[in-house]
Amino acid sequence: MKNKERIIDTDDVVGEKFKLGRKIGRGAFGEVYAGVNLQSGEEVAIKLEPVTTEHPQLYHESEIYKRLQGGVGIPSLKWFGVERGHNIMVIELLGPNLQEILDRCGGKFSLKTVLMLANQLIEAMECMHDKGVIHRDIKPENLLMGLGSNVCQVYITDFGLAKLYIDPETDEHISYREHKSFVGAHRYASLYTHCGVEQSRRVDVESLGYVLVYFLKGSLPWQGISAGSNEEELNHKLMIKKFNTKPEELCESCPSEFAAWVKCMRLTLFSEMPSYIYLKAITQRLFKSKGYKFDYVYDWTISPKDNIKLGASAQKPIRILAAQDIHDTVDAFSRTRIFDDVRSSKDVQPDPENDNPWQIAGGRRRRRQRQRHHVSSNGGYGVSMFGKSKNHNLI
Ligand SMILES: Nc1ncnc2c1ncn2[C@@H]1O[C@H](COP(=O)(O)OP(=O)(O)OP(=O)(O)O)[C@@H](O)[C@H]1O
Ligand SMILES: [Mg+2]
Repeated sequence: MKNKERIIDTDDVVGEKFKLGRKIGRGAFGEVYAGVNLQSGEEVAIKLEPVTTEHPQLYHESEIYKRLQGGVGIPSLKWFGVERGHNIMVIELLGPNLQEILDRCGGKFSLKTVLMLANQLIEAMECMHDKGVIHRDIKPENLLMGLGSNVCQVYITDFGLAKLYIDPETDEHISYREHKSFVGAHRYASLYTHCGVEQSRRVDVESLGYVLVYFLKGSLPWQGISAGSNEEELNHKLMIKKFNTKPEELCESCPSEFAAWVKCMRLTLFSEMPSYIYLKAITQRLFKSKGYKFDYVYDWTISPKDNIKLGASAQKPIRILAAQDIHDTVDAFSRTRIFDDVRSSKDVQPDPENDNPWQIAGGRRRRRQRQRHHVSSNGGYGVSMFGKSKNHNLI
């Protein structure tokens, strides 16, 4: 018989009302389960961390979430507690992460998809920074698409390594320091981070720039660099490689706006606010120049017509499972699934009052509110969601 004091597993109830479903993710620091709020029927994600962990993060992460609540592109926090030897955080259930989606899309995203993601992520990042928080671990595995009425929204998650860059006591920016040990994801880390400089807002935005280039090109020039288990040597090698790779070389075959993004962040001062306005402006101009419509139709969005064309070999579309189905349906949280959580075709038309969602902050909110009304209607675009959770710790 399992020791109820120490083990938490599928079907267990935590926080008096959150029942664990299938395991949907595992990171370096803990495990993530899908679950359900037994009182409201709402689907949730449950992140667990043994209290015996050498460097516990989950309480800190829940405190960061508290501070960020209400921000665009931030999942809602439902509960935090300590039970049966585990720190437990319950948050909004989201869809697959962008690495999983990228894998299923053949390893690259189109420019239109990348720019629609970039626009949302820079806004979410600006909002997070406005609340005094830097993330320090920006990578595709931590960027998740939403579910249901938020299926088109991308979210920033995993605040285990996040830090306040404004001292709450003094309201001042943290001090510039050097010789800091490496914190973050090697592949997407800022050059400043490799150099041991204290992280600040600019590093999140530089990392986001690398993530966007990775989406476009399918790889980054420093992938493949290794140094066995010698962390210091790896950091050094990556620092040299990132330093010697000119932004133009990094962004070769990409529109010049991406090299401008990276350059701009490398020139941003330690305590300076990154120029979100500039980044939004250059990517907006590029988006418009290509004649794209901000319709939230991503590379993984499939129309019913495409579905028919794919025929029997395609995964059978399933509707988003109701909470009560969770425990009956093995596949409910397998995360290898296609949702036909449809938006009506009306929803993907540009807003007549706001043909340019890049410029009017309220525009997207209005569009999302409208989508909510159409969430159960049929006949529009289906959004495919897929992929098994993977760790991508390789450089
Ligand atoms: N709210 C959520 N809804 C659905 N899936 C989630 C949610 N939160 C996390 N996941 C999945 O679980 C994976 C691991 O979660 P998370 O990144 O929070 O854990 P971690 O241990 O801090 O990871 P890391 O190794 O990046 O430090 C994510 O990449 C994602 O696929
Ligand atoms: Mg993570």
